[in-house]
Amino acid sequence: MKSSTPVITIDGPSGAGKGTIAQMLALELNWNILDSGALYRTLAFLLHQENISLNQFAEKKEKIQKDFKVQFDPGVIGEPVRVIFNNIDITNKVRNEEIAKKTSMLAADPSIREFIRPCQREFMKHPGLIADGRDMGTVIFPDANLKIFLTASLEERAKRREQQLKRQGMEVNMRVLLEELEDRDQKDREREHSPLVAAKDSVELDTTNIKPEGVIKKIKALPFFN
Ligand code: DC
Repeated sequence: MKSSTPVITIDGPSGAGKGTIAQMLALELNWNILDSGALYRTLAFLLHQENISLNQFAEKKEKIQKDFKVQFDPGVIGEPVRVIFNNIDITNKVRNEEIAKKTSMLAADPSIREFIRPCQREFMKHPGLIADGRDMGTVIFPDANLKIFLTASLEERAKRREQQLKRQGMEVNMRVLLEELEDRDQKDREREHSPLVAAKDSVELDTTNIKPEGVIKKIKALPFFN
């Protein structure tokens, strides 16, 4: 059964273009946006800030739940979706490689995924939701109206991540970036819980050498929009 609030899921590996495409669709349709990767990143940031280890998570869960108030602002095209945590913009604090590494470890833990699951469903609000992540179409919104799975070559994805980090004023070593991206992707694909995999009923799009506008054009040509 499809949900009453329409949901479009956009899954895929890092740098496949999910963030940009989700942002463009959310702005164009005027729908809500869920950047689930940023939700995991914010939890990693909170645990780090509060000095809470994964082992202590179960006993501190209630308090963490109270403190974990995250909102997303699609912002403007060309800039990342803004992450608002307890009314403070923490976008640059969570969109860096240090937090990404911590997040990848955290996201493999079943108790963390179980904690985040209801937080994600709460974003499903009128008039619709664009949900960006790894398991949006497979696990969190199996009832989504349209499921898209984006891919791109590793080199292209690393190049995009490099440009993104440079725009944020960060120093980037391309070789290290490539290795880290490959390592994280492998972890995301091979983990036991909610691995990165295309939903059977998803539409797969390879975005290598296609500009975001071209990807949007392909998406808008799908039966869902016509
Ligand atoms: O998309 P991102 O780089 O912000 O994601 C950060 C990490 O979170 C990445 O290692 C994958 C993980 N993640 C996940 O396991 N499930 C999601 N739905 C979204 C992200």
